[in-house]
Amino acid sequence: MSDLSKRHILLGMSGGIACYKSAELCRALIKAGATVQVILTEAAAQFVTPVTLQALSGRPVYVSQWDPREPNNMAHINLSREADALVVAPASADFMAKLLHGRADDLLSLSCLARPMRRVPLILAPALNREMWQHPATQRNVAQLRADGAQVLGVGEGDQACGETGDGRMLEPEEILAELVAFFQPKTLAGQRVLVTAGPTFEPLDPVRGLTNRSSGKMGFAVAQAAREFGAEVILVAGPVHLETPRGVRRVNVETALEMQTAVQAEMNQADVFVATAAVADWRVEGGSTQKIKKAQGEPVPTLALTENPDILGQVAASARAQSGALYCVGFAAESHDLIAHAQAKRERKGVPLLVANLGPATFGRDDNALTLIDAQGVHEMPPNRKIELARQLMAEIARRLPKKT
Ligand code: CTP
Repeated sequence: MSDLSKRHILLGMSGGIACYKSAELCRALIKAGATVQVILTEAAAQFVTPVTLQALSGRPVYVSQWDPREPNNMAHINLSREADALVVAPASADFMAKLLHGRADDLLSLSCLARPMRRVPLILAPALNREMWQHPATQRNVAQLRADGAQVLGVGEGDQACGETGDGRMLEPEEILAELVAFFQPKTLAGQRVLVTAGPTFEPLDPVRGLTNRSSGKMGFAVAQAAREFGAEVILVAGPVHLETPRGVRRVNVETALEMQTAVQAEMNQADVFVATAAVADWRVEGGSTQKIKKAQGEPVPTLALTENPDILGQVAASARAQSGALYCVGFAAESHDLIAHAQAKRERKGVPLLVANLGPATFGRDDNALTLIDAQGVHEMPPNRKIELARQLMAEIARRLPKKT
């Protein structure tokens, strides 16, 4: 299953130079498994051609409300009823002003007005010059469109096609895609604050060398993304990995286990859920050198003295128990053999209600995985899948186990 499998997106474009980015968006939606029907306004067709979008979407593009290809000549009804969402990207200042008044003088605005509101959400990705974006009329229109039930995405900041710099440019195609994928997830973690650790830690030996492990951080980043998609506020404490921060997630970068412990302690009291996916180094080098250790002819090979790192999850779980379990703790276990026996023992030892076990060497660095959930009720297998899909299934399981917020 891809992120947008079985979703049909009606992709509307109004006039703006950002139309060229929406051609990329169309392609990205299709790559994510969606089917896409494009509608261009006449202004949009000045920036990209129907031929471009037909080639990318694999479907004829509609521009006119008088298009005779529809047997009943009601493209606005037919197209809007088969869609799972109507996405207007770019949404120009003029187009938003028009929607606000319920005007419907072209096929795209007609489709926005005619869509079954409760079943087909309207998602707008504004694209404006910075002065136009800041103008009180635009801000008023955006607020009213939101009040009328449209989901108006934010805008990007930076260089604009007009040569100016500031807020207002359309989000990048992958950002709009991420918003759309998130939109379709259930919001069962809304109002919850989720703290996640991810990646390896790096324990320096000297300024250029250190001890680390093969964790890629991918599972933890997927957990953070899924928690955000489910509506939670997410803080991701990440060891040294080169992964992009999931959209909407607050990231705190750390290097060592001690830094990770400090970052977690700073956040844990405000969190409702703690998911420890990090592969924390069990030991650090005692008395690491501040200067590079040189190898000198005839000198003996240095020996490393190691000291134990704190058990971050163990400590957090103990303090959660002391505060009558206000923080729901989830541990991960990467084992190489006897997965269930080791994981059951680890769940007891760490004192957590839920432990997620996986075979470490088989999953490091990959985009897929298989998980085994272990709690007081027993063992629940999650068969092989993409890490993001497993992370979503895990979030659903966690949401089910959380006490209801009053
Ligand atoms: N963990 C942690 N702090 C540590 C070590 C582990 O928070 N110093 C967390 C991990 O993030 C994971 C869980 O504890 O959620 C299990 O980690 P693991 O290293 O597999 O367990 P250990 O207790 O170190 O056991 P072992 O290495 O013997 O398997």
